Amino acid sequence: MAGFTDAPFRLMCFEGGCDYAISEMISSKALIYKDKKTATLAYMPKGDTPTAIQLFGHEPDTMAAAAKMISDGSFEGCLYEEKPVAIDINIGCPVKKIALSGDGSALMKDSRLCHDIVSAVKAKTDLPVTVKIRAGWDRHSKNAVEVALACAKGGASAVAVHARTREELYNPGIDMDIIARVRDALPSEVSVIGNGDICDGRSAVEMVERTACDGIMIGRAALGNPWIFNEIKAAFSGEDFTPMSTENRIQAAIHLVSHIVELKGEDRGIREARGRAAHFIRGIRGSAEIRDRLNSTLTLEDFKSVLSDWNYSE
Ligand SMILES: Cc1cc2nc3c(=O)[nH]c(=O)nc-3n(C[C@H](O)[C@H](O)[C@H](O)COP(=O)(O)O)c2cc1C
Repeated sequence: MAGFTDAPFRLMCFEGGCDYAISEMISSKALIYKDKKTATLAYMPKGDTPTAIQLFGHEPDTMAAAAKMISDGSFEGCLYEEKPVAIDINIGCPVKKIALSGDGSALMKDSRLCHDIVSAVKAKTDLPVTVKIRAGWDRHSKNAVEVALACAKGGASAVAVHARTREELYNPGIDMDIIARVRDALPSEVSVIGNGDICDGRSAVEMVERTACDGIMIGRAALGNPWIFNEIKAAFSGEDFTPMSTENRIQAAIHLVSHIVELKGEDRGIREARGRAAHFIRGIRGSAEIRDRLNSTLTLEDFKSVLSDWNYSE
């Protein structure tokens, strides 16, 4: 998730039971023009594996050139302590700026182009190529099956389906049937990953039972709760799961923010970290006031003090 699934957060998710992560989306164009900030997005520290790098764009040649740079690690500022395990192609981002440029979810309108992008990327990398699609562009064109088949024909080895159209953005609820139909249509060697609104063990089990998908993808519910993966695994195996204590959540927020500051510098790190830490204190008594205080901190030390000095038992 752009703005959230950076390396520090992915490491926490792996510790919390995640089996596979995907980077924030990275512009293929920015990458080939050697944009410095883009290089930080592709940073992968020790332990950050298995992680795929997600690219967005709509020009097959540019996407292929960017995929080659990613798989060779051949761009300045790219620090790989771990290597990416796959290239994922974004065919789902609904953000106006992205879709109006023909990228992300706009690709849902052109399955032929989806095929051409996947096959161009596939030709330039030895890594598996996967895609992330939506149910369709709008209610009149729920063509996930057509797009998934085109991507599979182009060489995609997995298709993740966010079961909403671009028109629906993140509401209302998802249409699980579309995931089931994609699973039915694709050859068995192409994995189908179900995505949308999975927020606990029960919803994860329901996704698998109703769609027969091969894997599940968690987005928003992991924010502030990177232990959700173990919670879900416990639900599948019928084991108990003990939720994190408030103290552990606070310590986790401090750990995440410290790592973000270390990676991005104090100025940018603290600005970014305010929203990120807010997810960890969600539901805690006094969280609105803590958030206000965090918003006026400028240094990591202040940030840590606000979080550690609060009396959470009040
Ligand atoms: C803030 C935000 C950023 C996102 N960024 C990306 C992204 O970069 N790439 C992507 O494939 N999906 C992105 N998504 C979509 C999620 O991956 C996911 O498909 C969607 O949130 C539905 O799943 P969920 O209900 O588990 O969150 C983003 C979603 C949100 C809310």
